[in-house]
Amino acid sequence: MNRDVRTLRQPGFAGHIPLALGAAEAEAMAAGNRVGISPAHESAHLHVAGAAPYTDDIPELAGTLHAALGLSPVAAGTLLGIDRDALCAMPGVVAVFTAADIPGANDCGPVFHDDPVLAESDLRYLGQPIALIVATGRDLARRAAARIKDFLTIEPASPVLTAREAFARGDSLLPPTHLVRETAPGALDLALRTAPHRLDGPFSLGGQEQFYLEGQISYALPTENQGMRVHCSTQHPSEMQHLIAHVLGWRSHQVLVECRRMGGGFGGKESQSALFACAAALAAARLGQPVKLRLDRDDDFLITGRRHPFDYDYQVGFDDAGRILALDATLIANGGHSADLSSAVMTRALCHLDNAYYLPEVAIHGFIARTNTQSNTAFRGFGGPQGALLIEIIMDRIARTLGHDPLAVRRANLYGTHTRNVTPYGQTVEDNVIAPIIADLALSAAYDRRRADIAAFNRDNDVLKKGIALTPVKFGISFNVPHLNQAGALVHVYVDGSVLVNHGGTEMGQGLNTKVAQVVADALGIGFDAVRCSATDTSKVANTSATAASTGADLNGMAARDAALTIRNRLADFAAARHGGTPDAVKFINDQVIIGTTAMDFTALVRQAYEARVQLWSDGFYATPKVHWDPKALKGRPFYYFAYGAAVSEVIIDTLTGEFSLLRADILHDAGRSLNPAIDIGQIEGGFIQSMGWLTTEELVWHPATGRLLTHAPSTYKIPTANDCPDALHTRLFDNPNAEATIHRSKAVGEPPMLLAFSVLLAIRDAIAACGGTDADPPLRAPATPEAILDAIVAVQGGAP
Ligand code: MTE
Ligand code: MOS
Repeated sequence: MNRDVRTLRQPGFAGHIPLALGAAEAEAMAAGNRVGISPAHESAHLHVAGAAPYTDDIPELAGTLHAALGLSPVAAGTLLGIDRDALCAMPGVVAVFTAADIPGANDCGPVFHDDPVLAESDLRYLGQPIALIVATGRDLARRAAARIKDFLTIEPASPVLTAREAFARGDSLLPPTHLVRETAPGALDLALRTAPHRLDGPFSLGGQEQFYLEGQISYALPTENQGMRVHCSTQHPSEMQHLIAHVLGWRSHQVLVECRRMGGGFGGKESQSALFACAAALAAARLGQPVKLRLDRDDDFLITGRRHPFDYDYQVGFDDAGRILALDATLIANGGHSADLSSAVMTRALCHLDNAYYLPEVAIHGFIARTNTQSNTAFRGFGGPQGALLIEIIMDRIARTLGHDPLAVRRANLYGTHTRNVTPYGQTVEDNVIAPIIADLALSAAYDRRRADIAAFNRDNDVLKKGIALTPVKFGISFNVPHLNQAGALVHVYVDGSVLVNHGGTEMGQGLNTKVAQVVADALGIGFDAVRCSATDTSKVANTSATAASTGADLNGMAARDAALTIRNRLADFAAARHGGTPDAVKFINDQVIIGTTAMDFTALVRQAYEARVQLWSDGFYATPKVHWDPKALKGRPFYYFAYGAAVSEVIIDTLTGEFSLLRADILHDAGRSLNPAIDIGQIEGGFIQSMGWLTTEELVWHPATGRLLTHAPSTYKIPTANDCPDALHTRLFDNPNAEATIHRSKAVGEPPMLLAFSVLLAIRDAIAACGGTDADPPLRAPATPEAILDAIVAVQGGAP
């Protein structure tokens, strides 16, 4: 990302939204539509040319210093001393800061105040930042930081590294939570005891590194009179602002945080950009000079947390058709050393365990284990995938126990449309389209025929085995914490008719700015070229929520539309007063304003309105209706609506090596009335492949004695590449306008596709089952690495598990 700044001045950087429309879309565009068609991502031409500036590309001010973090070499222990003079004497080092140098609170926790910026005496994980080393150059700072272990006096202790161990000791970061729904007191136990069939088991699911291509980075610039401007790669500029002020002992209005774009966030920059923002701001405030802190990839792995690994214990009772009668499940999340967002992640896991299925008697218990590892955090789906995967494993096990097609068992358990339609947390599933999605997909993907073909293939082949699975998705949209469901925007119409939009959401590659620009262009009846989004900036829109929970377009699209409509209404009032007719009759379409029988250019009307002193800019605001939540009872309507989908995956495994390959995937996903079908399909396919990586090749390994994360670079941590995408990947959008009045009746699409790749894991399970007898039930853990696949094959063939 370090490039000659000249490339930033190339033509094309001037910023326009290039169009890449098919014939039907071009027609819709000519008819005046600006949503429901697929202009390319507003930065696509910059991304591909390497001309999209990220935080590290911002030209540095003279006097900029560089910081690096000195990390704890032990996973647990007490810090007794640090030889600061020795560190200061290292080449190029300008200053060394420790916890004692923090003027305000030594805390960057997003919800609970248990997250030190720099360690005090208590060392909690290997990789925990202890000292901030500031030098004249980045390499000098990093070189000094790497030496820190030679200058520390530490009394090591023995770490707790697994969630199971913490669970056994009862050591949780937060009080355990329970989501229970029974038809009568004691009904769950009774149903479990009397069910015709029962299964129980443990299951384990690994974590996942966000692996944003742009690592964590902040660049802090002191401004006049105790002020600070911080460029930060973050999904949550407002929280960065707030926490920087907290750490410096300042007030929020002294701090301005800006983010033009991230090179990916995936949840990893929702809260955990804070430590780096606070550290850079601390050094900049203390030294009165600009300070940049950009992490090395290995340090990023060592310092920050990721998707929570989960362990499960469950008991399920079901009838002859495979219908679940009762389920009792315990979810143990590895929280790491601090609470971070774990409580909200666990709530989402509990509220997604049902996935698409009705559970008559159910108790789900959540336990967030405290361990001596990085603090786990948000990752696309935010606990939802960890909840929903368990029920899909259970569906598969039920089917194998009864000798049924897993799809038939899934169908038997689906939420109904009039009965059996209330979730364990009490929300009625009002907009259920899951059965039609499954029916459509099973047909288009020829599920039945291919299942028969695969059975024939498996009869004829000993070494290679194939498997297939169809799994559904139901995903709740909204922040579980109701007050977070709000957004603001600022729209400026300049006198030349061009429009600048600023909203509280952040751009991380997901296309939020493109969608918001489309919404504004649509509201004003102008072309995309006339609308531009500027960097997210806490001095423009205040008190924003994180761009998270897939709500970016739902919230900010609505807020921007509100602002644009305010301006349009003012223009319509003015046009009617000046040119005759009623404001309602004024039409804005294709850069024209139609007033009765006269048409004029939008630009001409804007000019006239300006000269008549009409206000041509406006703010806008949106708060999601209907949502409410009781965080103690875990009941309410946490979600405004649900997004749905389904996928069929076919895999082949090599029973000698444990390797697998995804041969074909068919996806049908509900993005409501899509704002931008091309971007939505990109989100669906990207989420699917990212999730496949989580469930198959991405394995995190901590040294069992020292607690060092051994998989801290791409050499050992394997994310999927283009080579892992199937040759046949058929993705379609399910045509389904949102039943709720969302922005143009669209649905959020950022996270729900994570659940689609369950079909890959279940297809691998299917292929392994083909290695055993007819009722083989493979004890496959996730990620399904070659080792895990071989272990499961050995087990179904009657070997030791
Ligand atoms: N897509 C890209 N390209 N990069 C990202 O970092 N983050 C995901 C998803 N899609 C992400 C992405 C996550 S975790 C969320 S919550 C949503 O985008 C956030 O954006 P949205 O609310 O605008 O969909
Ligand atoms: Mo996404 S995990 O809600 O940032």
